[in-house]
Formats: sequence, C-alpha cells, structure tokens
Amino acid sequence: MQPAARKEPVIDTITSVQEMRLHAQRIRASGASIAFVPTMGFFHEGHLSLMRLGRELADHVVVSIFVNPTQFAAGEDFEAYPRNPVRDSELARKAQVDALFLPDVKELYPAGFESYVRLDNLSDRMCGRSRPVHFTGVATIVTKLFNIVRPTVAIFGQKDYQQWIIIKRMARDLNMDIDVVGAPTVREPDGLAMSSRNCYLSREQRIRARCLYQALTGAQQSVAAGTRDADRILHEAVAAIGRHGDVSIDYMVLCDPDTLEEVSEIERPVLMALAVKVGKTRLIDNMLLTPPANSKHQEDPQ
Ligand code: PAJ
Repeated sequence: MQPAARKEPVIDTITSVQEMRLHAQRIRASGASIAFVPTMGFFHEGHLSLMRLGRELADHVVVSIFVNPTQFAAGEDFEAYPRNPVRDSELARKAQVDALFLPDVKELYPAGFESYVRLDNLSDRMCGRSRPVHFTGVATIVTKLFNIVRPTVAIFGQKDYQQWIIIKRMARDLNMDIDVVGAPTVREPDGLAMSSRNCYLSREQRIRARCLYQALTGAQQSVAAGTRDADRILHEAVAAIGRHGDVSIDYMVLCDPDTLEEVSEIERPVLMALAVKVGKTRLIDNMLLTPPANSKHQEDPQ
C-alpha cells in the first residue's frame, strides 16, 4: 500500500496592517491561540528554533519580518542589513509557520509618526550605553506589532538577553496581556552564537569571533570552580579576548539576570554579557554563570 502523501504546509503571506489584524482576529475568534515571533529576517537556526517553540506553545504561529529603522542609529548597518525574503519565506513554511507578516516601512512609520515607547533604566545599561536609541526603537516596534497581532504568547531569543528582559518588563508595566517567553541561544558547532550579522565576518574574523564564547565558557569554569570575585572573572575574560588581534570590547558585565544590575560577588547565578567588535562587526553574547552550591565554604571557610 502507498503511504498517504504528506500535505505540504502552506503559509499566508500578509503585507498590510489591516489584513494582518483581520487574519489574527479570525484566528482568535475560532478559539485558537497565537504565538508570535518578531524578526528582522535573514533566518538562521536561531530564528527557526523560536518558530518551532511557537508551534509547541500555541495553535497558530505568526512570524514578522521587518528591518526596523528606528532601532538603528545613523551610521549603523540599517541599509546593509542582510535581507532575503524569498529564502526566509521557504524556511518559515518548512518550520510550519502559519502566517508571515511583511509590513511596509511607510505603513508602520507614516509621515508625522511621533510616539515612542521608552524604558527608564533597563534600556540604558549594556547595549544601551553604546546604542542609546536602540531599545526605544525595539520597544516601539514590538508594541506596534503586538497591537496588530495581539498574540497569546511572544517568543524572543535569549541571545539578545537584554532585549528579552526589556520586552518582558514593558509587557508587565504596560499591562499587555501577552506571555513573553525566552528561548535558549542556538550556536554554531564552535560555540559562536548564530546571528544574521555573522555574514559580515571574513574567514579570519569568523575564527576570531570564537573569542566571545571562549571568554564566557572560561568564566563559567572559573565560577564553577568557586571564584566569587566578579572583577577577577572580568579581568580574566578581558585578558583572554585581548590576546586576539582586530577585536575590541564594547562592554562586558556580570549582572543580576532579572534586573541587569551589576554584581561584585557571585553568590547566586549571574548573567555574564558582552559585546565585542570583530573588525567592524559588533557581536553580542551572554551566559548564565552558576556558582557551586557550597561556594561560600570554598573561599570563605568561617
Ligand atoms: P532579529 O535579530 O532578527 O532576531 C529575531 C529573534 O531571534 C530575536 O528574539 C532574537 O533574540 C532571536 N535570535 C537571534 N539569534 C538567535 C540565536 N542564535 N538563538 C536564539 N534566538 C536568536 O531581535 C530582533 O530581530 C529585533 O530587535 C526585533 C525583536 C524583531 C525588533 O525589531
């Protein structure tokens, strides 16, 4: 007997705000839940892992692709940002995404646009120091997309840990009835966190880019061995990265995983986060560092 032919998944491609609203309304009216994955496209396994998680968490998966101009400062890579909607659409279809939203910049930011969402403190730390307008642009576009799609759950990658925390805080502060879920970082076999920007790296730079993951795993080992002094961990990591040519550290912090406030003693799990420029390409990564259960006794026997 012939096996039944497998049904090829179909994907709805939507470009207008009104059409996206109606589509989402129809889904909600049918009683189905919606998982939403906002992206800027040029998909890699990191993006696809969020879509697959969306499939598990809700009945209907909506993905947006929009390279959002308000989160790029003048002189950043907005124009050069890699784009490939045809390939993305095929990958999303294979990941069983139900609807792909590809809005137009003129419709999302018409002439006269002047309303922004800004967070007081979380946006100024870490990436916010060297990219002061970035998170206002992110919070604003995510709010707009949330208002259009009105999902049950929204999924963000922990690769952009600060972004995830900011969106979670924003959803809580502004009473958005959306569950903001964080998904683990997907890495290349050598540890480099997947990113659409990795395509900017030359062959030599790609090898040097391993230094982010190496610095994080080195710190993780040091913390697991009982080191509790944050400065010591940071010095070791700065030295490890400094051994590579053509790289410069933008920031490196050890902070509380919820508030992002910097810590000086590692007494419970802390987030280590860093941004490093490899050539002209700015890469970010982070890792949770967990001290051993009895670390207090190892260094401080009294
Ligand atoms: P983008 O960089 O395209 O990322 C879209 C989503 O994929 C984000 O939630 C990001 O954290 C996640 N992601 C990226 N690389 C990942 C990896 N290696 N592992 C797991 N998840 C990963 O982040 C943005 O777009 C934009 O700022 C956006 C939220 C869409 C607002 O414009």
